[in-house]
Amino acid sequence: MAAVRRLLAFLLLLLQAIAAASSDAQHLLAARSALHDPDGALAGWGAGSGRGLPCRWARVSCANNSTAAIAGLDLSKLSLGGGFPSALCSLRSLELLDLSANEFAGPLPACLAALPALAHLNLAGNNFSGEVPPEWGAGFRSLLALNLVQNLLSGEFPAFLANLTALQDLSLAYNMFAPSPLPEKLGDLTDLRVLFVANCSLNGTIPSSIGKLKNLVNLDLSTNNFNGEIPPSIGNLSSLEQIELFSNKLSGSIPVGFGSLKRLRSLDISMNWLTGEIPEDMFTPPVLASVHMYQNNLTGRLPATLGMASSLSDLRIFANQLSGPLPPEFGKNCPLQFLDTSDNRLSGPIPATLCTSGKLKQLMLLDNQFEGAIPVELGQCRTLNRVRLSSNRLSGLVPPEFWGLPGVYLLELSGNALSGRIDPAIAGANNVSKLLLQDNRFTGALPAELGTLANLQEFRASNNCLSGPLPQSLANLSLLYNLDLSHNSLSGEIPRDFAKLKKLTLLDLSDNHLTGNVPPELGEIVMMNTLDLSNNELSGQMPAQLQNLRLTHFNISYNKLSGTLPVFFDGLQYQESFLGNPGLCHGFCQSNDNSDGKWHTTIKLVFSIASVAMIILSLGLAWFCYKCRIYKMNASELDDEKSNWVLTSFHRVDFSERAIVNSLDENNVIGQGGAGKVYKAVIGPQGEAMAVKKLWPIGVESKRIDTFEAEVATLSKVRHRNIVKLACSITNRVCRLLVYEYMPNGSLGDMLHSAKRSILDWPMRYKIAVNAAEGLSYLHHDCKPPIVHRDVKSNNILLDAEYGAKVADFGVAKTIGDGPATMSIIAGSCGYIAPEYAYTLHVTEKSDIYSFGVVILELVTGMKPMALEIGEMDLVTWVSANIEQNGLESVLDQTLAEQFKDEMCKVLKIALLCVSNIPNSRPPMRSVVSMLLDIKEENKPKLKVEELAI
Ligand SMILES: *[C@@H]1O[C@H](CO)[C@@H](O)[C@H](O)[C@H]1NC(C)=O
Ligand SMILES: *[C@@H]1O[C@H](CO)[C@@H](O)[C@H](O)[C@H]1NC(C)=O
Ligand SMILES: *[C@@H]1O[C@H](CO)[C@@H](O)[C@H](O)[C@H]1NC(C)=O
Ligand SMILES: *[C@@H]1O[C@H](CO)[C@@H](O)[C@H](O)[C@H]1NC(C)=O
Ligand SMILES: *[C@@H]1O[C@H](CO)[C@@H](O)[C@H](O)[C@H]1NC(C)=O
Repeated sequence: MAAVRRLLAFLLLLLQAIAAASSDAQHLLAARSALHDPDGALAGWGAGSGRGLPCRWARVSCANNSTAAIAGLDLSKLSLGGGFPSALCSLRSLELLDLSANEFAGPLPACLAALPALAHLNLAGNNFSGEVPPEWGAGFRSLLALNLVQNLLSGEFPAFLANLTALQDLSLAYNMFAPSPLPEKLGDLTDLRVLFVANCSLNGTIPSSIGKLKNLVNLDLSTNNFNGEIPPSIGNLSSLEQIELFSNKLSGSIPVGFGSLKRLRSLDISMNWLTGEIPEDMFTPPVLASVHMYQNNLTGRLPATLGMASSLSDLRIFANQLSGPLPPEFGKNCPLQFLDTSDNRLSGPIPATLCTSGKLKQLMLLDNQFEGAIPVELGQCRTLNRVRLSSNRLSGLVPPEFWGLPGVYLLELSGNALSGRIDPAIAGANNVSKLLLQDNRFTGALPAELGTLANLQEFRASNNCLSGPLPQSLANLSLLYNLDLSHNSLSGEIPRDFAKLKKLTLLDLSDNHLTGNVPPELGEIVMMNTLDLSNNELSGQMPAQLQNLRLTHFNISYNKLSGTLPVFFDGLQYQESFLGNPGLCHGFCQSNDNSDGKWHTTIKLVFSIASVAMIILSLGLAWFCYKCRIYKMNASELDDEKSNWVLTSFHRVDFSERAIVNSLDENNVIGQGGAGKVYKAVIGPQGEAMAVKKLWPIGVESKRIDTFEAEVATLSKVRHRNIVKLACSITNRVCRLLVYEYMPNGSLGDMLHSAKRSILDWPMRYKIAVNAAEGLSYLHHDCKPPIVHRDVKSNNILLDAEYGAKVADFGVAKTIGDGPATMSIIAGSCGYIAPEYAYTLHVTEKSDIYSFGVVILELVTGMKPMALEIGEMDLVTWVSANIEQNGLESVLDQTLAEQFKDEMCKVLKIALLCVSNIPNSRPPMRSVVSMLLDIKEENKPKLKVEELAI
């Protein structure tokens, strides 16, 4: 009997289980049919042998397989869309629901709050909008973690969530709540471990009840509008590991008490209005590793506890008004990696112990009053990669080993009183790309070893006491674009080999004692923009070859030039360039004797004939060598006997693949990018130029992301006046070429961030912004499926002969509808990457719009996206911080702002919309275009009248 009862009970249970399972399964299927699943990620539900038993379905888990009640549903990152599928509210056993990083939209469901077991709810990274349902304040009895980060939620900050007393994790950051205070009642959530409410438009003061959250580990209130003081009660939160209060309007001084936070690892209170001294106990927490206090108004001396901190690795206190010395043995007791004290009033010596742990990577002490010598010990610090000591009072010799640190890419010592020679040990600094030594007291000759620094791009040593000749070896610096050795005592001739410096845009050798001729070969440096040889002792004729250069600044005044000035230089723009050369005559040289004059003319004639003959001869020779070279190239990689070229054309082309292949000469290289080299090819009967991109050979690695397939597939579909036109692709077994229209004025980035920037006045910049916006708008709105560029930056915006802009380089572009939009490989470039990448790795058009916003900021401010001049910030951070403090106009490019201030401010505002932290509040590209156009329309009301007439 008992056995039968047991059997019956068992059968009953089984039936219940099957009923629960099948009804949960039905709810899941109902949910699936209500949502948009473009990739078919859930297509397998309900099929196969596990039919009816959802525990085995993808992304579904059960607490107990025999009852088959669904406990967990993880649908994150599946590109799902549509409204919230309300059938999910019927899964009564649900404990975990994760819909994060999808495209869900519409209101949040009130019904979820009724689920009795729900403990973890993650809806982050969607487009949910509207208010948080008030019902949520009365339900959710077992909710432990609520994550709504990065949606479009609006209305008042949901203060009633303070009712959910079981909560351990409350994350509401990056939404669009109306300005509201943080509720005092939040102090009731005593189990809270994570409070993440960054960027929630919170205002008022930080409630001191926060001091009741004894279990809090991570407190992030950053990027809000909190004012008032930091509540001292934070010092009671003994579990805290991380405090993020940056980018608020907090004032007053930092409270005493952080010293008792025994678990604190990271503190960021940067970008506030804090004043007063840093409290004495600030650096006592034993595991404190990272302290950011930059951009405040802190004063006074650094506390002695700094010298005893044992875990500190990252200290950024730049842009304050701190004074006094660094602790004498700073670095001896801690694993210091990153130190930025720039822009303060610190004084005393640089401690010799900074690199005792052997970990120091970045040392930024610029704009202070440090004095004494650079410690010898720093010469042993082989981990250093970024060194900025400029604008201090440093003196004495630079330790020889310090010159030769192998990892350093930026060595900035300018604006001190350093002396001695530039040591030949500098040969060891083979990573250095910027060497800035100007305004010191360096003496002696430039060491020939400088010529071995293959990565050197910028070398400035003006205003020193350097003597001796210019080393020939400098001509080997093939990446050098900036060479400024003015105001020294250099002598000897300008090496002819300098013509090999093909990247040079600025050459300033003024105020030295250079002698000999001006080398005609300088005319071969076609990138040159600024050439200053003034105040030397150069003699001989002014070489006509220099008229090949497109110089915006040219000065050769106060030398000893003689002979006739080439007619080209008679123009108005050069009238100051040749002053103080008494032997130089404009037009025809005066001559006393007529017959003498005739004699000269005859000689001239003979010379001219001879030179024409020479030119023809050399051209012939050059052609011969060229052919030889092509022949040699053909023998290897480009051999078309072994591998046939295939030309696929997308537009009408009137050249042969042979002509293109023949033009791939190293002398024609005009650029190099992640995907390959770019050549300029002059082909066709009219000497038409094309740009040929030769992709790196297909290797093991490049198979992963084959940019060729991606680019061709994308570009061949795309036709728009503001998109760089792909004429054809040419491939053989090993080699892949893309032939584009040639853009004679190069990239916007090169133009804007070099000496050539003065060419780009505001009307041109405005036109560039509009053109590029139209190109992107076409990709986003007019292509089917839409195309996300994924690497929008000023270097990918090219300029035609009229400085019209076209969008280029779809190396990483991917159509949105083509496979999952969430990519595992991070695309994009430093300074342009939208913040949401950090949370979701989720790529949408909105990321392009952010990057485009950065490009507009570059146009308006003239700054680089990651510029050295702006501390350790990217351009977006710098612009917002400056606008906050000094207003819109303070960030405009001052060289243009005079005349175009209003228009520039309007464009700036559009840029700020584009770089909004919240992806969905960035305007679509189509609106960006019309907003940009509207700016001009206001200036030209006539245009509208004309339109009406049509
Ligand atoms: C699963 O559920 C069955 C039936 O309710 C129960 O007997 C069993 O103990 C449960 N198993 C676990 C691991 O909870
Ligand atoms: C339920 O079954 C699945 C797949 O058969 C298994 O992975 C899981 O561990 C099981 N869960 C429990 C709680 O037994
Ligand atoms: C929060 O809880 C209190 C009391 O427990 C209740 O009176 C109030 O209605 C709740 N708030 C909301 C928004 O449900
Ligand atoms: C917060 O901002 C709103 C809107 O600007 C304002 O009405 C309110 O008074 C502010 N609250 C506090 C506490 O500053
Ligand atoms: C910082 O202090 C300076 C000088 O005392 C003052 O001009 C400036 O407005 C202050 N800045 C802030 C943000 O408080």
